[in-house]
Amino acid sequence: IPAPQPELAPAASIGEAREEAKGCRRCPLWRDATQTVFGEGPENADVVFVGEQPGDQEDLAGKPFVGPAGKMFDSILDDAEIDRRKVYVTNAVKHFKFEPRGKRRIHSKPNAGEIQACRWWLDKELDLIKPNLVVALGATAAQSLLGKAVPITRMRGGVVEREDGLRVFLTIHPSFILRIREQEDKEAERERFLKDMRKVRELM
Ligand code: URA
Repeated sequence: IPAPQPELAPAASIGEAREEAKGCRRCPLWRDATQTVFGEGPENADVVFVGEQPGDQEDLAGKPFVGPAGKMFDSILDDAEIDRRKVYVTNAVKHFKFEPRGKRRIHSKPNAGEIQACRWWLDKELDLIKPNLVVALGATAAQSLLGKAVPITRMRGGVVEREDGLRVFLTIHPSFILRIREQEDKEAERERFLKDMRKVRELM
């Protein structure tokens, strides 16, 4: 009689979880993406920022928030005096979902099934890091963290406490600022996001 397969031990560290996630097949998004983009930052971080999913540049680099939205995010964190090296940054969905258009790859929104499948990894990250505060950057992150759709525009700047006691700060996704054409409106929206990040710094 063959010995039973040993149970795969649950990941004991972020490093282990990152290794496991490289081969993730929990949803079909791995097929077209270049690689899994796992979260990044210290395992003892006080705060975890959660975005939507890697974009084109993140998919190629294998790191979260390094493209245009990441640059916007970095500059606002800087202004809010939050040190990105001391926080953990991740995404609700860890593979890039896109539609090819000529040579370009156009971001497409992850669906509820993909968000649900990838919660496995987000839960693991939160389990291991045990942050004081999680920041949901936009609706996808909020849906993943709270298990339901929430009206971000109405609830931004506020904190929702989950049943497990985890505090979730709600705000917009930084790419929203990038998409605003009118310079004045863009500046105003950047200011609002900066205000949110200053609140985050108070709460962390
Ligand atoms: N947008 C996200 O939500 N996450 C990234 O990592 C990059 C852009």
